[in-house]
Amino acid sequence: MVKNKLTPEIAKFLWDAAEAAATLAYAPYSGFHVGAALLTSEGEIVTGCNVENASYGLTNCAERTAIFRAIAEQKLSRGVAIDALAVVHRDHQSCTPCGACRQVIHEFGPDALVLYEYEGIRRQTSLSALLPESFHF
Ligand code: THU
Repeated sequence: MVKNKLTPEIAKFLWDAAEAAATLAYAPYSGFHVGAALLTSEGEIVTGCNVENASYGLTNCAERTAIFRAIAEQKLSRGVAIDALAVVHRDHQSCTPCGACRQVIHEFGPDALVLYEYEGIRRQTSLSALLPESFHF
């Protein structure tokens, strides 16, 4: 990938993968079904969905599910970054990554592109724009 640029074909692939993942969400409490798809610097795509819990605070967002899955599948590591990550709501409600997910995306993709839908419009922005002056050491 050219830094901070996605081909329209890859962007569509990510959007479609995230939409498909959203249909798998376990969200009986909020009814808010979210899917995410990330693209690694090795060209792998990994998806995730939100997984809720009766103890609400234990809920895992779709973005973090995708990231943790990618780590567990050895598709992401210190040497392999997130180049892009798409997040969508199953029924196209506005959905941007929460603060916790921005920080976790930063761990593996400080230069990542983030694709999300907001007020019916698909947007692409940088993680650094969503998380300025991020915490890292
Ligand atoms: N959620 C995500 O999975 N990703 C986001 O970017 C925002 C919120 C989930 C968490 C919870 O299961 C539901 O959406 C409502 O907050």
